[in-house]
Parts: sequence; structure tokens; C-alpha cells
Amino acid sequence: MQTLKTSFKAGVFSAVVLAFATMTMSAHAANEVSISIDAKKAGPVINKNIYGQFAEHLGTGVYEGMWVGPDSPIPNTKGWRNDVIGALKKMHVPLVRWPGGCFADEYHWRDGIGARESRPVKMNTNWGNVEERNAVGTHEFFDLVDLLGADSYVNGNLGSGTAQEMAEWLEYMTGDGKSTLAELRRKNGHDKPFKVDFFAIGNEAWGCGGNMTAAHYTNLYNQSVSFLKAPKAYMPKIIASGGNDDDTTWTDYLSKNIRTRVDGISFHYYTLPTGKWEKKGLAIGFGEDQWISTLKNTLRMDTMIKNNVAKLEKNDPKNKISFDVDEWGTWYDVEPGTNPGFLYQQSSLRDAVVAALNFNIFHAHADRVRMTNIAQMVNVLQAMILTEKDKMLLTPTYHAFEMYVPFQNATALPLTIANNPEYSFGSTSIPEVSASAARGQDGKLYLSLVNTNPNKDVSVDINVAGEKLNAAKGRILTAKAMDAHNTFAQPQAVQPASFNASAKAGKLTLNIPAKAVVVVTLE
Ligand code: AHR
Repeated sequence: MQTLKTSFKAGVFSAVVLAFATMTMSAHAANEVSISIDAKKAGPVINKNIYGQFAEHLGTGVYEGMWVGPDSPIPNTKGWRNDVIGALKKMHVPLVRWPGGCFADEYHWRDGIGARESRPVKMNTNWGNVEERNAVGTHEFFDLVDLLGADSYVNGNLGSGTAQEMAEWLEYMTGDGKSTLAELRRKNGHDKPFKVDFFAIGNEAWGCGGNMTAAHYTNLYNQSVSFLKAPKAYMPKIIASGGNDDDTTWTDYLSKNIRTRVDGISFHYYTLPTGKWEKKGLAIGFGEDQWISTLKNTLRMDTMIKNNVAKLEKNDPKNKISFDVDEWGTWYDVEPGTNPGFLYQQSSLRDAVVAALNFNIFHAHADRVRMTNIAQMVNVLQAMILTEKDKMLLTPTYHAFEMYVPFQNATALPLTIANNPEYSFGSTSIPEVSASAARGQDGKLYLSLVNTNPNKDVSVDINVAGEKLNAAKGRILTAKAMDAHNTFAQPQAVQPASFNASAKAGKLTLNIPAKAVVVVTLE
């Protein structure tokens, strides 16, 4: 897939870009950024689940943010807020991961079934030590994914649970016979098996999921997966809990030593402006130093994927195991005055740019990266939606996801960028333009572009091999300030606007304003 990588890749590919740049010099003015797409050479399908979401029992991510209960004065369907569900449906949420995160390894599924008023109350020891009343359990989660029309990703408890508990949960959800557990599900109101699309064995086993070594986790994985049984039509894809950040040893060890079934190995990487957990950086009110450091840190995702995929290529050359980034996104210092355990943060234009840069990276690795889950869907970390009592707002990150909808299940196309300038601040530099192209399921040619420079427009010349382009039509997300964001008082301060351009003298040039995300069809 080398040709899919854009010009910010180092090594051999830079040489390819350089050669390409030289070739195109005569046709285009020197130093003009030039994107070339080969629409005849189809790449891999960009799995819709690359646009997956994550809803953990954390802060107000599930309770209040989405679940208000059937008796709430806030309009709801089966307890789920109608306003939030409506907005999430518009952005075509393809997949939801639940119930954690760290919470998953303390979650016991039997606490979340049966009459809600009789469910046990526990303390959420990971996230603020608040009461967990278990109002949202298995049946409520499947109501949520049904309302969204999304696939389901259930994360099992390996840390404080057992192989038996996970096996019984899967049987409860998917059993189609007369077993006691399948009958219990029926008694609780769901006759047919639930459709579990993905099931993970543990989460962050190297940390909150049990502080294990990869070898210990792999033994437990091999044991647990042997007992995960479901009728063929309901058997989920099984995900092993992998590594994070620069560490490739988990991907390597797991893909070598898992003896039984594994469909994907997960990976987590969070973008911190400072790169330091003790003082991560501000969500809004930051300077250009943290604009560029955040984007530079998020672009590291590309190298991390490459390094892990290299291990998979070696251990799994037939590409059976996907590399699933099931937690990613920005993580800032919490909003002042909020519970530090709730991880509530604002989302600004910078977050939309972060999202778009990651989408372009995921597309470039779509042959291995077949699922990702941004952390998290509502009110937690890089959220799509923020709520305050009965009000809600859509964040710039929401808009980036919504603009990229045509890329779900589209076919990636090889793309090269020539003469991509560096945007620099202080001693830090990043490529100014990031881009990705794909043939949508509707047959149209889609191009996404990001201008990372917060101060300067960039002109980009677009070429599609063997095709004459007349126009680009689509939308742009940008704003005056780097930290522009939506508030409950001004919920539409940052929202997409239309973006159109026509070819002049047979040449299609797009002028991309500073700090912008653009998605267009090329016609
Ligand atoms: O998304 C918040 C937390 O980050 C998750 O619970 C955990 O898996 C990760 O460390």
C-alpha cells in the first residue's frame, strides 16, 4: 500500500514523492502544492467501522449524556435521549464500543439485567468513585445500537472476571436454544439473540485491566477464547487487548503466541498537547505552540500504525488479524470546576483537525486498520456531543465525522502530494497539507484535505490521472480562532459551510484557508 501514503512519510516513499514532484514541475508552477490521484487503481475498502465510537460508563458519557431513563422529562426512547440519538444518527455512527475501557474490567454483566430498580449499586472506582446503579446494562446497550442502526462492540471483563463469566455473557446474548441463560434473556424481554459484532477479551491488560505482562495476558486469552461459543450466525469477531503508544511488543507477542482464534488486536494512543500525563495541556485558550505540538503528536499515529503493522505482516502475512485502534483522540486537562474523574473537556476546531488527520492516516492503512473507536462519544474526552441538562451541542469533532461520512465503506485511492510545504512554529514542523481520496459507494470521487497551518491559506492543484476535472463541491470546516468552539450560548459558532471551486483553463486549484478541513466531490 505504499502508494497510498501521502508525502509526509519518510524513507523510500519520499523518494517516490520527489520523483513525482520533478515529473510534474513542468506542468505546474514550482512550489505549488499538487495532489495527484490514480482513480483507476483501487486500494482497500475503508471499513465503515474506522468511524466507530466508544461509550464508557465514565462521567456523564452514558448517564445524563445519553441515558436519562424512560421516566425523564427529557424526550427519550427507551431511556435514550432523542436529541442525542437524532444527532448521532445523522453522523452515521457505524459501531459503538461498550461498557469500557477500564470500567469493563470491573463490570459484571449480571448486575445489569432484570428489573432496573433491583439492580445492585456499585462504586465506579475508576472514574470518580461515583455510584453505578447499573441502569444501563446489556438490554439497554442493544436498544442504543438498534436506535443508531450501529454495530455492537462489547468489551468483556478479563481483569476481575473469569473465562466462565465471559462465556456465560456471550451465551446470554447469543444463545438461540433453550439453555437457562438464553431463557433468562427471553424472560428479560429479548426473544431473539442479540447481534454481538465484536467481543473483546479485556482492556489495557498492561494497565488498568490487570497490570499483566503480554505473556500472562496471552495465556488468559487462549484460555478464555476457547470457551467463547455462540451459534455460527451470532459468533462475534474476537478482539485481543493489545499495546499502546510506541510499544509494539504486545502486537508482536500476541500475534505470535495466540494459538486460538483472534480477529483483531487492539491498540490505544491518545494525543496530548504536551505529551505529558501530569500536565497535558489546555482544551481551549492555548497558544500556537500547543496547536502545532498537538498536531505533531497526533501525526505520530501514522508511525505507530506502521510499526505495529510491520509486526503483523511478519506474524500474520495472510492479513487475518486486523489492527484496531479502539481508543484514540485528544486528552486535555479537565475543564476547570468539573470532577477530574469525569474527563470532561471542550472540543475546538483543533480537535476537528486532529480527527481529520487521523482519518486520513487510517484510510492510508485501511488494509489492516479495519476498526477504530474515538474516545469518547458524549461528554468525555474528544466528544462528538456535549450536554447540559436538556441542552446539547455538536462539537467541531462531530462535524469532522459527519463531513467524512462518504468515506465509510468507500474504496481508498492512491494519492501523492508534491511540493507539500512544512508549517513551522518555533523548532517544530509538520507537513502543511494532509489528504485522502476514495471512490464512494455512490460512485463519486471524494477528496479530503486538511490545512494544518493556522496562519496561511494554501493553494492545491488537483489532478486525477486520465480524467478532466471541472469542479470540486463540498464543505469546509474552519474558524477565525484556533480554539474556536461551540458553547450552549453559541452552539453554532463552528459549523461546516459550503465549499465549491471550478476549473479554470482546464486546471482545478483549491484554495484551502488556514486551519481548515475540507471534504469535496471531484466532478
Ligand atoms: O477513555 C478513557 C480511558 O482511557 C479508558 O477507560 C482506558 O481504556 C484508557 O486508559
